[in-house]
Amino acid sequence: MKQISSISQLQTELAAYHSRTIGFVPTMGFLHAGHLSLVHQAVSECDLVVMSIFVNPLQFGPNEDLARYPRDIERDRELAEQAGVDILFTPTVEEMYPRKIQTQVQVSGVTEKLCGASRPGHFEGVATVVSKLFHIVGPNRAYFGLKDAQQVAVIEQMVFDLSFPVTIVPCEIVRDTDGIAKSSRNVYLSAEERTQALILSRSLKQVKEMVEQGALTNQHDVRNFLIEQIELQPLAKIDYVEVLSYPTLTEPRNLFTETILIAVAVYFGNTRLLDNVILNK
Ligand code: PAF
Repeated sequence: MKQISSISQLQTELAAYHSRTIGFVPTMGFLHAGHLSLVHQAVSECDLVVMSIFVNPLQFGPNEDLARYPRDIERDRELAEQAGVDILFTPTVEEMYPRKIQTQVQVSGVTEKLCGASRPGHFEGVATVVSKLFHIVGPNRAYFGLKDAQQVAVIEQMVFDLSFPVTIVPCEIVRDTDGIAKSSRNVYLSAEERTQALILSRSLKQVKEMVEQGALTNQHDVRNFLIEQIELQPLAKIDYVEVLSYPTLTEPRNLFTETILIAVAVYFGNTRLLDNVILNK
């Protein structure tokens, strides 16, 4: 594996591959099995796999965890190499944003609800860095985890609207054996918070089964059931619980015929966790 930190050096390296399939896995590092599953899928479908590790300041709000976001580049290097990454792109903030940025990508509609509502400016930061990374790497296929299902919808919309020549490949959520969705932020959780956080995957699994069995038939009952379950955990503080059509993220009309995203964002202490299930995929 090669590690490259300069944009021009990376582009020279990639030029030889442009007639072949370049797979791209953008990340913010502190890699876990979720990221590695994206790499495995990319390796199986592409000639060259590029992973980026860049903790993008543009997508963090002023009171968010940019400064304490977990980082371990040595460990990430090893994991990336073992998983089959060919080029690990690790630019500095100065390399990516050498001057004050004056152009940002703003996706409307799909960014209005869920994390877009709770984290103003977040998806502008994501869309801007992802479009910049797409221009730098020039991938044919780019891999994103569905734990951030809204992020996938935003990127797909951006790629469609701006005709980026890249196929977005959404990949399944990877979970620990107890059900918790893999996330770099899980390291922030105390033992007690982690135990209580299991309510998210458990209650989502339960509502999926209840809808499939006809025990819950509309979005309001699904939402109320989830809220009741989550609020039983004393450390849980709900940011949102939403039931929406996917990927449009609009109010659903029918839970049984449309693709439905049931998404939650919940704080345990200072840690905000996301989880979701998708029905009728
Ligand atoms: O999902 C992430 O880790 C980030 O939002 C991404 C896509 C790497 C952009 O910074």
